[in-house]
Amino acid sequence: MKTVCLPNYNIYIDRSFDNYDRFLSDLKGNKLFVVTDENVYFLYKDTFESKIKNKDIFWYVLIDGDCSKTSENALNIVDFLIKNKAKREDVLVSFGGGVITDITGFVASIYMRGINLVHIPTTIIGQIDSAIGGKTSVNYEHYKNVIGTFYDPKLVICETNYLKTLNQHEILNGHGELIKTGLIGNIDILNSLDNNDAVYNPLLISMAIEVKKGFVVNDYFDKSVRNTLNFGHTIGHAIETLTNFEVSHGEAVIIGMLKSIEAGIYLGITNPKLLNNFSEILKNIGYNVPKIKYSDYEKYLFMDKKSNDEGIRFVFLEDILKPKIEIISWSKLKDALVNTEK
Ligand SMILES: NC(=O)c1ccc[n+]([C@@H]2O[C@H](COP(=O)([O-])OP(=O)(O)OC[C@H]3O[C@@H](n4cnc5c(N)ncnc54)[C@H](O)[C@@H]3O)[C@@H](O)[C@H]2O)c1
Repeated sequence: MKTVCLPNYNIYIDRSFDNYDRFLSDLKGNKLFVVTDENVYFLYKDTFESKIKNKDIFWYVLIDGDCSKTSENALNIVDFLIKNKAKREDVLVSFGGGVITDITGFVASIYMRGINLVHIPTTIIGQIDSAIGGKTSVNYEHYKNVIGTFYDPKLVICETNYLKTLNQHEILNGHGELIKTGLIGNIDILNSLDNNDAVYNPLLISMAIEVKKGFVVNDYFDKSVRNTLNFGHTIGHAIETLTNFEVSHGEAVIIGMLKSIEAGIYLGITNPKLLNNFSEILKNIGYNVPKIKYSDYEKYLFMDKKSNDEGIRFVFLEDILKPKIEIISWSKLKDALVNTEK
């Protein structure tokens, strides 16, 4: 077992754990309210229940996908907690991907001003990203993640065996974030991706968690260095919105990273050799980047939370492990992105 310790909680990582009771024993309440989605429920309800002996389990099952991450569903979960007489010392568990950790974390932060929260993430994004760092959110109308809080769990349990049932789309989704994490924080992550089964290795997942920890611990409220985690995301988010989320988050981040590297080279910020390194990484995971034009995604760039009328706080890479946050004007960014289009 690997353990990563953050100031307020620990993250336990292994291929599998026989039981969860030993992790939950410090939490007094005897009711466990588990929020999940229908895919994870269907695959792992029995597995989950076999790992809990000492608490009564209450399930709340959402339809899978980002469409479930709504303020309405958050209030429905509150309703479910009230109806089942949940107390603050009871435990609310997120059991699923990033959608589930985000909405469950949000509910945990508002229900009675804070109920015990435990994350048991079952996707790569969940394990290396959304369950770590305390950001919670729901979407509202067409605005993604527009309502949210910062709220830490009591602990996080990552079992990499859960990742074995992810489909190729979700694996690629996770690869996007793993590549980003490797480029900004640990080259060993990039080297490990050569191996197809690497994502099931607790060491790889723990290395990625350690990178995120480094940024979160130094800037919990995302005012400065935590922005670095946004590498590839400004353009990535715009592409997700443009394609109505048909291009997955991780894939959009890969495209966003490539365009950021090309723009960085054009602007004299990025070492030109990085483009070859990046192409090698994509070859290793068997991904061909689709062509998407600036004119198609331009209007969605302006929706970025880190932008204003003049420009945007944009993450470039000078080189591997050398991220650089620049405030860049819209006209300069446009010039670089348009002129590097193939
Ligand atoms: N809070 C944060 O810091 C943070 C960081 C990154 C992403 N996010 C959020 O996370 C969400 C994306 O996360 P995601 O990619 O995990 O999406 P997701 O939760 O929708 O999961 C993706 C799909 O995988 C399925 N799934 C989950 N676990 C599975 C398993 N073990 N086997 C088979 N299928 C499984 C789900 O049912 C779903 O269909 C977005 O809403 C994003 O905004 C939040």
